[in-house]
Amino acid sequence: MPTVHTKPFDDQQPGTSGLRKRVIRFQEPHYLENFVQAIFSSLPGREGETLVLGGDGRFHNDVAVQTILKMAAANGFGHVIVGQDGILSTPAVSHLIRLRETFGGIILSASHNPGGPEGDFGIKFNGTNGGPAPEAVADAFFAASRAITSYEIADAEDVDLSQTGTSKIGRMVVEVVDPVADYAALMEELFDFGAIRALFNGGFRFTFDAMHAVTGSYAKEIFERRLGAPKGTVINGTPKPDFGGGHPDPNPVHAHVIYKAAMKVDGPDLAAASDGDGDRNLIVGRQCPVTPSDSLAVIAANAHLVPGYEEGLIGVARSMPTSAALDRVAEAKGFAAYETPTGWKYFGNLLDAGWISLCGEESAGTGSDHVREKDGLWAVLMWLNILAVRKESVAAIMAHHFATYGRNYYARHDYEGIDAEGATNLMEALRKKLPTLAGQETPAGTIQVADEFAYFDPIDETTSEGQGLRILFGDSSRIVYRLSGTGTVGATLRVYIERYVGTDDDLEMNVSDALTHLVDLSKTLASIERHTGRNTPDVIA
Ligand code: G1P
Ligand code: ZN
Repeated sequence: MPTVHTKPFDDQQPGTSGLRKRVIRFQEPHYLENFVQAIFSSLPGREGETLVLGGDGRFHNDVAVQTILKMAAANGFGHVIVGQDGILSTPAVSHLIRLRETFGGIILSASHNPGGPEGDFGIKFNGTNGGPAPEAVADAFFAASRAITSYEIADAEDVDLSQTGTSKIGRMVVEVVDPVADYAALMEELFDFGAIRALFNGGFRFTFDAMHAVTGSYAKEIFERRLGAPKGTVINGTPKPDFGGGHPDPNPVHAHVIYKAAMKVDGPDLAAASDGDGDRNLIVGRQCPVTPSDSLAVIAANAHLVPGYEEGLIGVARSMPTSAALDRVAEAKGFAAYETPTGWKYFGNLLDAGWISLCGEESAGTGSDHVREKDGLWAVLMWLNILAVRKESVAAIMAHHFATYGRNYYARHDYEGIDAEGATNLMEALRKKLPTLAGQETPAGTIQVADEFAYFDPIDETTSEGQGLRILFGDSSRIVYRLSGTGTVGATLRVYIERYVGTDDDLEMNVSDALTHLVDLSKTLASIERHTGRNTPDVIA
């Protein structure tokens, strides 16, 4: 098997979710190969093992899949299960790893980042539990990438991935599978498809935006074929390498067609969307957008209505910046609640140990122990199943939820594409100021605690430091600052703002009105304008 000599690149440190760079970076000679070799070299015991491989179909997916197949063969793998045309959604990869009990899998995606030749590309390794490699393993990939001198790649023809079936590269078996079938079967096990079918038959109006990304084929199969939703329920359902020129981020801005439709008096009962690789979700009821943090809490409160969760939840977890709405449900229902750093990889140990059955993030990621990734279609099916059982509108369910648990008013302000040095300086200056803040009176209340979040993983007993700067107030309000770990250009500052009001308080305020004082304070406390030259965020999520 040919060995190719190479030199290290210095920028192959995985971020919040694998290695993400511009497509043009990945197209540089040896760039992808180096990182793939760094992954393989860091994994002892790979000889003869099985790997799952697939991606969201974005530009460069086809080229990268062929390269990785040849490298897997040269690195001693015995079998690779690859999605037809190289396509698999992120949750489908996670499921296949678990179902077929493989050594692990490689996912090609830059999630909701734009695609096409000018867009982004990414690669991520998931381990045998189906989940993203933990921080220590990702660090090992980076270390290997810094020391690399050569990589192994089979001298073979490209494999025909257009048909399901098996072929070989050298001694390694390449098995091309239908990307949708096993995933759809799992969804049938978890949800009451009969009840959801009856909901659609009863005239419930649903629209799903696949954003020209990977969920198109999954959504058509599940919603239109298996659940009998009318044809045309799934829009933008044909996956494209550049996502039709769009930005496959399921938020009100990029999924504006379904969002606007749902905000009308006569809009659909439920509008939903998923992102590039199918792990994120957007939920909008008629005239009732649901924030991801609230959606997570509502799902937790109602999970027992869904067959796969009818025995009740064991425990739940959320990433630290996600609103504490979930904690209110856990407290009332008597299950444990954990707070982890940003990124799905931190949920893996808790899920594997059986300490939690549901988890999520404010960034439109919700999931459970059925796989080890967040899962966009699963979240939509959760809502459909709950709606089918409760026979109430989304708005009625939300009003009832707030009246029971109180409301966590919440917003995330993103300052995108700012100068990396300014961003680092801002965080550094605020970090220095933290010890002086506790006890300070502000128009938003008295600051009770100001610290930097670190996470002690109770399962593997590792500690992850530097996971966000927190300003906590006595009334459970808070401001959190962190820098994004998924961007490919400059830096993005994320400021998370939250205020809790109890059931006897005003539950129907306008969100920005409810948060005014905290928002103003978030700007002055961190001197955002001075460090970034910006006074207003680019995106309010
Ligand atoms: C973002 C989200 C985070 C999510 C990650 C991967 O990371 O904030 O919750 O896990 O994308 O989808 P960030 O860019 O903030 O590092
Ligand atoms: Zn994603």
